[in-house]
Amino acid sequence: MTIRTTSDDNKVEPFDLVVFGGGGDLSLRKLLPALYERERDQRLPDQGRIVAVARSPMDDATYRAKAREALLRYVPKAEIEPALLDRFIARLHYVASDASDAASLAPLAKLLSSDGRVRAFYLATAPTLFGPICRALGAAGLATPGSRVVLEKPIGHDLASSRAVNEQVGQVFSEDRIFRIDHYLGKETVQNLMALRFANRMFERLWNASEIDHVQITVAETLGVEGRGPYYDKTGAMRDMLQNHLMQLLCLIAMEPPARIDADAVRDEKVKVLKALRPIGAATVAQETVRGRYGAGAIAGQAVPGYLEEVGDADSTTETFVAVKCAVDNWRWTGVPFYLRTGKRLAERRSEIVVEFRSVPHLIFPPSAGEIGANRLVIRLQPDEGIHLVLTTKTPTPGKLKLQRAALNLSFAETFDTRHPDAYERLVTDVLRGNQTLFMRRDEVDWAWRWVEPILAAWQATGDAPKPYPAGSWGPAASTALIARDGRAWREEAL
Ligand code: BG6
Repeated sequence: MTIRTTSDDNKVEPFDLVVFGGGGDLSLRKLLPALYERERDQRLPDQGRIVAVARSPMDDATYRAKAREALLRYVPKAEIEPALLDRFIARLHYVASDASDAASLAPLAKLLSSDGRVRAFYLATAPTLFGPICRALGAAGLATPGSRVVLEKPIGHDLASSRAVNEQVGQVFSEDRIFRIDHYLGKETVQNLMALRFANRMFERLWNASEIDHVQITVAETLGVEGRGPYYDKTGAMRDMLQNHLMQLLCLIAMEPPARIDADAVRDEKVKVLKALRPIGAATVAQETVRGRYGAGAIAGQAVPGYLEEVGDADSTTETFVAVKCAVDNWRWTGVPFYLRTGKRLAERRSEIVVEFRSVPHLIFPPSAGEIGANRLVIRLQPDEGIHLVLTTKTPTPGKLKLQRAALNLSFAETFDTRHPDAYERLVTDVLRGNQTLFMRRDEVDWAWRWVEPILAAWQATGDAPKPYPAGSWGPAASTALIARDGRAWREEAL
């Protein structure tokens, strides 16, 4: 039988991509390298321009030199092809403007084509500017009916502010033209979650409370807050990572199969998961959540300072670690805890999802055969992207029966002899193609905030400081206790 395949890898139509904050870190470090890679893949049409907009006065030549320097720094050397680099650089233009002032957008208006090409505005700016920039685009007549806008997270600081931003943007752009980026959705292995679940038959029958004991989602970083202290100190791990990246992963694991792989079918199913999350508030927050903050410690043998020293504010109450036990109250998942944790300055850089199945119903082997662990499906997002199925197997020995755990490994690097694209490569081309499947819809952002906000409020009401953990560890002891109370443990070992 032939399996029908469909491809959404259609060509990108001629475009003008306008990047507000075009001189900033996100543009230079992520966007331009991602677009350059698409150039190498020959995915960009001849008529495709990238127009950087920022306040500082600069001409095209100066911006191009700056962009070239950034590309040489952030694109791996082996991927720099001089002719392609020149071709890509020639696409770049620069306009100096105060983007929130419609009058100052006149030079941009003059530059933009009116030949019907795709027009996208990428707001790589502070979120406080999302509303004002959209208003100015509307007032300057630049938000033409087919044009679209791209917003980077965080969308707001809480439910009210995210609604205000969505409202302001929504007054100028209709929802089908708004692309809210959560870059985790562009990661290869995250996209692969859908392939794993919905292009393979074998897992579906096991994907429920009868067969699954619990799910763990870990996004662990070894980095501290680097140069982003002022942003991070106002944000914290809950808003920076859990409210978006981890909740998106939870949705992809827990959602029902969508009827089609189109944007609304997928996002409808994700929203249903968010709506089914059991609320955590004042009565349960101490049991179901942990907030932590790193102190001084060591990462890869190097001494590193604690968070308070790093941000230079001894009174900060911001968390750099959060662990939460979530319940999805629906038929498929009742009784299956989802343990989520994320933190900075942890023992390893490791992002993974562990789906742990129930143990065998009856044990026929003697205790001397060794420990029979439950089966686990480990989906490793980074580093070493891959999928591992942990099984119990007999060790090859002629002696007494010995059982041992071993994994069936699907390493993407070994299996696919191809470059591993960055999340932005897929996402930025999806914007140009108009495919919203991997972007957050307004109601998704709203429901995620609705669930997170009572937790933030309960934390604030207790006034407790985040629990300390040494840099280089797996977080505060309370995080181990959160899962140990249920007789389970975080996966920190190899299997
Ligand atoms: C960003 C957060 O969204 O994701 C950062 O703001 C975090 O604090 C980053 O470091 C992690 O992304 P990645 O792709 O390195 O896992």
